[in-house]
Amino acid sequence: MKIIVLGTGYVGLVHAAVCSEYGHEVYAYDNDAKKIAAFSSGQSEQIETYVNEPGLTNIIKETLGKYLFFSTDLKSLIEGTDAVFLCLPTPPNLNGSTNLVFYDAAAEYLAEIAAARQSKDKRIVFANKSTVPIGTARHLQEIMNTHKVENFGVASNPEFLAEGTAVNQARKPDRVVVGCDHEADFRILRRVYSQFVNHVRIKYIETTPETAEAIKYVANTMLLTYISFWNGVGAKIGEKFPNVRIDDLRMGVTSDDRISKWGSFVSNGAGGSCFGKDIASLIYQLRNMNVSTKMLEASYEVNEYQKVYLIERAVTECGFKFNNKTVAVLGLAFKKHTNDMRDASSIKVIESLLGKGVAKIKAYDPLANESARAVFDPSKNILFEKIEYYPTAKAAIEDSHALFVSSDCEEFRGLSRTVEDTVSPPYLVIDGRRMIPDFDDIVSKGYGYLAVGSMFMKPDAEN
Ligand SMILES: NC(=O)c1ccc[n+]([C@@H]2O[C@H](COP(=O)([O-])OP(=O)(O)OC[C@H]3O[C@@H](n4cnc5c(N)ncnc54)[C@H](O)[C@@H]3O)[C@@H](O)[C@H]2O)c1
Repeated sequence: MKIIVLGTGYVGLVHAAVCSEYGHEVYAYDNDAKKIAAFSSGQSEQIETYVNEPGLTNIIKETLGKYLFFSTDLKSLIEGTDAVFLCLPTPPNLNGSTNLVFYDAAAEYLAEIAAARQSKDKRIVFANKSTVPIGTARHLQEIMNTHKVENFGVASNPEFLAEGTAVNQARKPDRVVVGCDHEADFRILRRVYSQFVNHVRIKYIETTPETAEAIKYVANTMLLTYISFWNGVGAKIGEKFPNVRIDDLRMGVTSDDRISKWGSFVSNGAGGSCFGKDIASLIYQLRNMNVSTKMLEASYEVNEYQKVYLIERAVTECGFKFNNKTVAVLGLAFKKHTNDMRDASSIKVIESLLGKGVAKIKAYDPLANESARAVFDPSKNILFEKIEYYPTAKAAIEDSHALFVSSDCEEFRGLSRTVEDTVSPPYLVIDGRRMIPDFDDIVSKGYGYLAVGSMFMKPDAEN
């Protein structure tokens, strides 16, 4: 099949690469010429500046120029195309609704070009991979009709990948959801996804465009609600009731097959580009239908509160004074195996620390130091000048008074030894991910340990 992928961000680039791996002829288009130049170079360093996903660069290197092509000229690509996947950003507006400015601009441009194509006898499907409000495929159809595009269909084909494991998930998704109005369009998309149709494990779900759009929102808000349940209920039980062990509580509860293990690990909130904006958008969409959204609002609020409350606990429970202190913040991206800083908990953590008057923040992430620099741009906020970036956790911890673990990078599991080797008590370890299994060791040596889901472990000298 000849495929165009419109928008080469996390979703578009992974989709383009994996489709090319399956032997489709894939043309990836973006209006950001620098991105396209970087991806066309086939060089790991250049590709990973934009999208750093395990396994992705290898696929691009293998298929580039054979099945995978990058371009900034959409007009030259359209003839003979079977399907166009729209993978555009859909950020939130201040009121929570979805901002369709990028989507609409791209769709209008695509419509203009599609209307002028020569190969009108060939049916073309425009499929939304972006997460868009229920009814947007219909809106896309109207845009195409306004431009008098002929012989086309619209589809909703939501993306469910999780960053950090995106390539594996695109190769072996749990499900592929395809919403169309016409059998001819289902047929085209079945050929695109032929490896998944009739698969023994992967569910290939064909439905209406509106249902497909709704599936994406319900799935994402369900996931965030489950995470918020554990943070808002499980973690609080562990923090307030003496002698409750959160890890045993979690295991006891999730041993029931009906209750998911995924999402039960308490944390300083879930970040990433999607959860927050998708739940805000669904709240907005439901309110417009006069539906009460209290449950979704609570999920959202718990998640936001969770990102910073450990800093308040450090003050009230541990008596720690942040003013003029140096604090190491470890784990800047929203999770391990990615350099994506969008809505990362570390942003709220760092802003909160700066608000408490810290002298310096020593930041470290194995992949995201550079993308963090762009987020904490001192020209936007002079306080960001207090942030310094280090190549290792050890270097960040040196000469600090406290550290905050804000993501789940595996290397943080060995932090107790790094702490012991690098700084002396009094010292406070704040663990937003419960990453330090042997915290008893450091507590017995005089370090304080404050983790989500547990009461403060006072250093032994104070016990
Ligand atoms: N990132 C995820 O984990 C994830 C997962 C599932 C769904 N989604 C959804 O997929 C969509 C895309 O997300 P993303 O993370 O890939 O976004 P992104 O910001 O990483 O990428 C979007 C790309 O679109 C390009 N673009 C913007 N306007 C354009 C235009 N007019 N013409 C051509 N290209 C244009 C940008 O340059 C960028 O490369 C969003 O709706 C998001 O909610 C994201």
